[in-house]
Parts: sequence; structure tokens; C-alpha cells
Amino acid sequence: MEISIRKSDVVSETSDVLVLGVYQGKPVFVGTAVVEKMDALLEGLLSQIAKEESFTGKLHQTLWARIPDTIASKRILLVGLGKKEECDLEHVRQAAAVALNTVKQTTAKTISCLVFGDALEVRDRVHAMTEGIRLADYGFGRYKKQKKAHIKSFHFLLEDGRDVVAARKGMEMAEQFVKGTLFVRDLVNTPGLHMAPQHLVDEAKLIAKNNAQIKVKVFDEEKLTKMGAGGILSVSQGSDHPSFLVHMTYTPATKAKKRIALVGKGVTFDSGGLSLKPADYMMTMKCDMAGAADVLGVFAVIAKIAPKVEVHGIFATVENMPSSSAIRPGDVIEIMNKKTVEVLNTDAEGRLILADALVYATRQKPDAIIDLATLTGACVVALGEEITGVMSNTPALAQSILQAATSAGEKMWELPLEKNYRKLIQGDIGDIKNIGGRYGGALTAGLFLQEFVDKTPWAHLDIAGPAFAERDINPYEKKGATGHGVRTLLKYLLSF
Ligand code: BES
Ligand code: ZN
Ligand code: ZN
Repeated sequence: MEISIRKSDVVSETSDVLVLGVYQGKPVFVGTAVVEKMDALLEGLLSQIAKEESFTGKLHQTLWARIPDTIASKRILLVGLGKKEECDLEHVRQAAAVALNTVKQTTAKTISCLVFGDALEVRDRVHAMTEGIRLADYGFGRYKKQKKAHIKSFHFLLEDGRDVVAARKGMEMAEQFVKGTLFVRDLVNTPGLHMAPQHLVDEAKLIAKNNAQIKVKVFDEEKLTKMGAGGILSVSQGSDHPSFLVHMTYTPATKAKKRIALVGKGVTFDSGGLSLKPADYMMTMKCDMAGAADVLGVFAVIAKIAPKVEVHGIFATVENMPSSSAIRPGDVIEIMNKKTVEVLNTDAEGRLILADALVYATRQKPDAIIDLATLTGACVVALGEEITGVMSNTPALAQSILQAATSAGEKMWELPLEKNYRKLIQGDIGDIKNIGGRYGGALTAGLFLQEFVDKTPWAHLDIAGPAFAERDINPYEKKGATGHGVRTLLKYLLSF
């Protein structure tokens, strides 16, 4: 689908479909000047159809109209934006996705669409709409023999020619945000059969190969043994697939303002190990590398968006399997910083591999570390499937991330690193245990990770809920991998 931007008078557009956004109003169309004008031109035909079809302009509502003689497009599609005073960028993003989804159900191939949300900055409106239509257009086609038909072109229309430059900037930035997000969706949707740790390593190498500003270092099991990475190696020992620690570095063209480390959990399949998961819980566990995929998604586009910070992308990748060589509940292992861990549940494996990755990240002396991990079912119980839990030892860092999430249109909420719960993971025969009992599981997991970052400002993003949707979430996030996290990280990196 080709996206373009132009100034237009709307009436002379010759696309198969002309899309117009409509605020919810009474009488209908009040507050949406273009449609009011067009309705007057058509002697009230549009408002009559709206009345017959009970179209009010509520968000997600649509209305088809066919008016061949007065305007050049064959059909008009009216799309509800919700109430004008409530119409934020998320409404704009969703309404654009609804427009695309609706037209895709017809034989139409070309769309012209007046940019929605006239009270907001034009650059942001086009950014949000580009995300909405591209993310809505995504489908994971790798294993489908029959490919779906495509929309050929989507033209954004502006009534004022002076807005074209800003609109184009919004569109170009959004294309990078989308590219990063869809890159993650493809990786996360790929089943464990075709997504072993080696694949994530190959992706990192490929990104670095195509970009002079990105370098990559890969630590294999031999090196990990020398480094004392007992967390990664112990989880990996039950699998036939070898594990890796990957370290990518992005260096900006001009002097870096800060050094940021992004750390991802890359469990390509989480069976639980000997603490085997029930079958129902295992079904979606190909998604357990979404944190690592997010790091790769950022690096896939980082040179194009060119943040002014040095970025270290670090991920540990393993497969968690039960076998005769698997780690046993009760075993004691040693992390790279020499702390010992009693592994009482082999299904709490993410924190073990992250422990090594965080120690490694801390040694790079970054100004901040952000880790992303599908870490706990408890976080999904606490915040539901759509919201990421943010835990941090530095309130200002948590605030920056929450702000970036809001501006990116991703939902995140802060959870506390409650000191008084630290005793729940106190070890009996080792320094700490890898589980903390029945309650507050997201927090005890966060407290566990905190043991491995020393005093470095650090934030932990538990993306177990939003990384993978078990049902359709909204018009642009369908069942399957969402790519959640990438857009927040990109906004965060661009904030310097
Ligand atoms: N990968 C899972 C967490 C998860 C759950 C991700 C649901 C996505 C959706 C993680 O490794 C895990 O199994 N955690 C256990 C920890 C428990 C044993 C302390 C959990 O949450 O049940
Ligand atoms: Zn697990
Ligand atoms: Zn896991």
C-alpha cells in the first residue's frame, strides 16, 4: 500500500473511496465543517442517510454513501471520530484503522482520506493515522498459501497546502515506528519451530551488517561459560538449541547526549521446563521472546530515526525445555556477578537469564537501563492484557517512560518495588530464590531483577500482557503479536 500526502479540495478526488471523519454530534455533522458543507451541496442527502442508518459519528461507526454525480470518487465512507472534545490521537489512530478495515472488505483499491482530528497538530495526526492504517493492514502471512488482496494506495488529503511539509514529516517518522513494530510482530508470531535462539542472533547480525552505525557482539555458550553466565546456561541446559547473549551498539552521528541500555528477554519457547506449564498456558509461549524482539525492532530502525543517544541493545536468548539434562527445581546456580540463586521453579526462567543480561548491561556503565520482558502471569492478573507494568529504582526514569508511552499510544502503569517484599525472595541455602510465593508475583520478579543492576538507574517493563493478544484488542491490534513496546522506546530515545 502506497501512502501519499497532497492538498486537495476533496470534491475532485477520483479514488475509489473518499473517507471523511465525522465528530459525534447532535444534529449529526455539527462540528465537522467539510461534511456539513458537502451535505448542504447535496441538499441534505448525507444527513438523511445518516438518520436512516442511525449514524451519529460515534468512534468506530461507519456509513457508506454513493453520490456519483456531485463528487469524483465513486463512494464516500464516513467514519466516526467520537466527541470532538474527546478526540485525541488514539481516536485518530483507531478511526484511520477502521477506515482501512472497512474499505478492505470491498473491492475498492484506492482511498483518499481527509486527515482526521483538526484540533491537533497536523504532524501528529498524520503520524497517528499512518500507524493506524499500516498496523491495521498487517497480517502474518508466512504460512498462508492464499495471500489476501491489498489496497493499492492511501492518499492523505489536506485542505491547507501549508500543512503538507509537516504532514510529510509525521508520515515519514511513523513509517519507521511501524517498520519497527511490524518487525517485532513477525518475529513474535513465528512459532518456536522456526524461531530458535540462533534466529534472533542472525537477525541482530543482519541489522548490523546493513548499518555502519550499528555493531554487534555475540557471546556463545563457550564464552558464556567463561563469563560465568549461570543464569542463561542453566535455563538453556534442557534444550538442544544453544543459547546466546547478544550486544548491539548504536553510535549516533554527533556526540551522544546519554548512554542507554535496552535489555530483552528472549525465551524462544517457554514450556516451563521441569516445572512444566499446563497445556493451555503453553499454547502462546512462542511469545516469550517479545522483549528481545522489541530490542531488535528498535535497532531495525534506529539509524533512520537517529536519536542523539548511544544505545546498547542487549538480549539473552534461550529455549526453556524439560529433559534429562534440564535444571531441576531446588538446584542452585551462580549469576555472572557471583550471586547464587535457588531455582525453586524452572518456569520462573526469565529472571534467571535477565540477571546475567542485566549484570552485563550494568558493566557498560549506562546512564539508564530499560529491560523488557514477558516476565510474569501475575502482571497480567494485576493490569490485564493491555497494560505493561513499569517498575523502577529511579522515579524520574519511570516518569520519562510513562510519558513516552502516553505519547506513543501504548498503555503502561507503574507498580512499586516494595522493599518490604524483598524478604519473600530471601534464599534458604543460596543468596536469593527465583520465586516469591503466592502474592505480588510481578513485584517479587521486579525485586529479583533489581539485585543485578547495582545503583544504575533502571526500569523494568513487564510486557507479559500486551506483547501478545489472545483476542482482537482494537482496530489496529488484532489477535497475535502486537509489537507493543517498540513505539514507546523510540519515543523515549527521541526525547533526548
Ligand atoms: N513467560 C512466563 C510469563 C508469561 C505468562 C508471559 C503469561 C506471557 C503470558 C514466565 O516465564 C513464567 O512462566 N512466569 C511464571 C512465574 C512463576 C513460576 C513464579 C508465572 O508467571 O506463572
Ligand atoms: Zn516461564
Ligand atoms: Zn517465560
